Order: sequence, then structure tokens, then C-alpha cells
Amino acid sequence: HPALSLQLPELSKVSVLMRQRNKVENTLRAMQHAGPGTLQVISDFDMTLSRFAHHGKRAPTTHNILDHRLLIDEDCACNMRKLLKIYYPIEIDPSLTSEQKIPLMVEWWTKVHHLLIQQKIQRDMLAQAVQESGVILREGYEVFFDRLAELQVPLLIFSAGVGDILEEVVRQSQVFHPNVHVISNYMDFDANGVLRGFKGPLIHTFNKREGALLLAAPLPELRERPNVLLLGDSLGDLAMADGVARPHNLLTVGFLNDQVEERAESYVEAFDIVLVKDESMEVPNALLKFIT
Ligand code: TMP
Ligand code: MG
Repeated sequence: HPALSLQLPELSKVSVLMRQRNKVENTLRAMQHAGPGTLQVISDFDMTLSRFAHHGKRAPTTHNILDHRLLIDEDCACNMRKLLKIYYPIEIDPSLTSEQKIPLMVEWWTKVHHLLIQQKIQRDMLAQAVQESGVILREGYEVFFDRLAELQVPLLIFSAGVGDILEEVVRQSQVFHPNVHVISNYMDFDANGVLRGFKGPLIHTFNKREGALLLAAPLPELRERPNVLLLGDSLGDLAMADGVARPHNLLTVGFLNDQVEERAESYVEAFDIVLVKDESMEVPNALLKFIT
């Protein structure tokens, strides 16, 4: 469609893959027609709003930001890295089903949370660890967050990471606007501000459906908004919209950061728009600009 291509040249970049460009265009037009009052954005955090890599180096996830000597000792850091080496390849393995991955993800998160609890992490130290973790949000994040706030479009950040760290990153990036809602794994501190556990049901990469139904669906800000722009980097992230009561239009964007050749087919099959090794918010920002 030439008219839309003119308005959305970003979708013609070689890093953008679409199974059905027609469907994307029709959904975008329907969302534009319905207006920002009907829109909500649901986004994953780690490796979606945050970068996968920066200057050739892997950027930290919220869990990895905790790998700071103020918070955990060398031994704990070493154990966490060992677990990452074992379980991350399983998380992204295209030859395994989510059903096969789920027990192993529960194992990974449970082991890591146990290790963290043993470290008697102090709440007061989190901000500094985040500060020293460096640039982590994708290029163009300011436009993304600011535009949604300006339009009063709710942004639900739905993360299997660590909520306290996530919030601190968003706050320090100066984009924790009133329209931002977070569902994540939150730390539970004792009266002295020392970590003693994690609150609520565990969220890992492949149980976001349960989280969506239990935690996102009741949020009044989201309930009456039937048009959803969803951003994620894992196939498990697609379940983040399962709590939306009566969805009219759903447009899904998947960041394909790693194992590109092995996973391209499954991503193109599952997401409406796939962004290959794109460390920026350029496409989501263009979509928002078009819709609103
Ligand atoms: P997300 O839902 O915000 O993407 O957060 C989950 C990511 O966190 C997932 O892709 C794996 C990653 N992770 C780590 O990097 N280190 C860890 O120790 C754990 C448990 C998860
Ligand atoms: Mg992620």
C-alpha cells in the first residue's frame, strides 16, 4: 500500500519482517481510526524496552544489574552466571516447547531468588547499582514513554525480571510517568530494609498468561481499552495480552535479538512485526505516531 509506506517508511527497512503486511496495515488503520482513547500498550522489559547489546557488549537484564559487589558477593555472582549459562540457552531454544521449558524456567528463577535472599541485599543500595549499570534502555525510549504519557495511553510493563530494579531504571531514566504500570517480581524487605523474599506469584518468561489474567485484567485503566500494541522479545511475551477483556485490534511487535537464523521463522509466524537486531525504538515510535 503506497500511501501507508509513505507514512511509515520505517516498516520498509531490511531489519523489519512481516508475515502479512496487509494485516499490519489494516490493524494500524483501525487503531488510528479508533483513537488513542481506546489504546493501551503492553510491553515486556528486559531485552524489549531495555537493550540486548550496546557497543557490541551485552546489556544487563534487571537480574544482572544485581551483579554488583554492593549487593552480592563474588561467589553468588559466579553461581548466578553459571545458572544463566545453563538456562538461558534453554529459554531461547527453538526446538523445545513452552511446556518443556516451564519447569526449567521455574527452577532457574527459584534458584536465583534463593541465592539473592542469602545475600541479605539492602534496599538502600539498589539505586546506586542501577546508576552504575550504564545505558540500558533502547535508543528513542524518551519519545516512546513521553508520547504515551502525553496522550494518557496506559503503558503496562510486564516483566519476569526484578520489579524494584526495573522501577529504578525507569525512574532514573526520568520516564516513570503516571500512565506507567508495572507487573513484575518484587522484592520483599524486612523492617531493616534487608531482602527476605519475593512477593506474590513468581513470574517467569513462560507464565505471563497467568499473570495477565490474575494481575493485569483487574487494572481499571486497562480494562476498557480494546486496542493493544504489544512489544516483546520472547514468544512467551505474546501471552501478556491474554487479560484484555474484549480485544478489538492487537498488533504485536517482537524484537529478535539473538539466534536470529534459528528463530526467524517462528518469530515471523508468531509476531505481526519482527525487528531483527534493532537496538532502537524507532519502529514502535513510528507505529505510535501513525496510530495517534
Ligand atoms: P523480562 O520478562 O522482563 O524479559 O525478564 C526476564 C528475562 O530475565 C529473561 O529473558 C531471562 C532474564 N534472566 C536473567 O538475565 N538472569 C536471571 O538470573 C534470570 C532468572 C532471568
Ligand atoms: Mg524480555
